[in-house]
Amino acid sequence: MQIVRTSEELALGLAELRLRGRLALVPTMGALHAGHMALVAEAKRRADSVAATIFVNPAQFGPNEDFARYPRREDDDVRMLEEAGCDLVWMPAVEDIYPAGFSTTVHVSGVSDRWEGQARPGHFDGVATVVARLLLSVQPHVALFGEKDFQQLAVIRRMVADLGIPVEIAGVATVREEDGLALSSRNAYLTADERSRAVALPHALQSARGKIRSGDKVAEALEEGRQSLTDAGFSRIDYFALVDAATLEPLQQPHGAMRLIAAAVIGATRLIDNVPV
Ligand code: PAJ
Repeated sequence: MQIVRTSEELALGLAELRLRGRLALVPTMGALHAGHMALVAEAKRRADSVAATIFVNPAQFGPNEDFARYPRREDDDVRMLEEAGCDLVWMPAVEDIYPAGFSTTVHVSGVSDRWEGQARPGHFDGVATVVARLLLSVQPHVALFGEKDFQQLAVIRRMVADLGIPVEIAGVATVREEDGLALSSRNAYLTADERSRAVALPHALQSARGKIRSGDKVAEALEEGRQSLTDAGFSRIDYFALVDAATLEPLQQPHGAMRLIAAAVIGATRLIDNVPV
């Protein structure tokens, strides 16, 4: 596996990969786990070579968020990517992505506005800007993103369509622990007690899904979901909602392709999750 850092090294590495045919890109912020590895495995199925990026993107963290303490495990990450059969990893420095004078922001309105966009102002501008930058630098045939970050996937699909970036965006189903908790680099922040109670989040989503599918009133199913999170010790619920899967607009009753999405805080950790309905 090639390890590249500067744009010049990247260009040389990519030239070699392109000769092999279709190229896939898996963008990450590192601290890799089995969820990221599922993206690499799907990338290998869809392309002849796979490039990954590891870049903890300062632009998508708010001033009071965890940028400084976000887990950084470069050696482990490189080993995992190598074992998964990744062909190239690009680990740019902040100055490589945002050199002096960098002045452009990509803002995707509408689908970015609610939920994570409201709880984390500026977050999706940071995500859209860096993902546009990574897609244009690597120019893959296909790029893979997890359904774990469902709104992020919708924002990226919208941006790629609106800007005509010539890449296929593929979503990959959420990888979970045995008890149902979605794998996340931020799970490392949970104490043992919080970890055991965190499973209430996927459980509440699954239970609301069952109720909505069996015809219960959406508002009641959502309220029961919120209550079960409070009962489990979540201290704040940012949202627990039924939304249109493409626009992320809230739904008062079942309609078309839908998703149940939630974000809530346990201890000092904010967790997000979602399930199809
Ligand atoms: P990061 O949180 O490192 O996630 C990288 C990719 O892995 C994202 O597409 C995310 O949805 C996916 N992922 C994370 N946990 C997953 C799980 N349990 N199952 C399946 N996929 C999972 O998301 C980001 O980084 C950044 O915002 C990024 C897109 C790299 C832009 O900076």
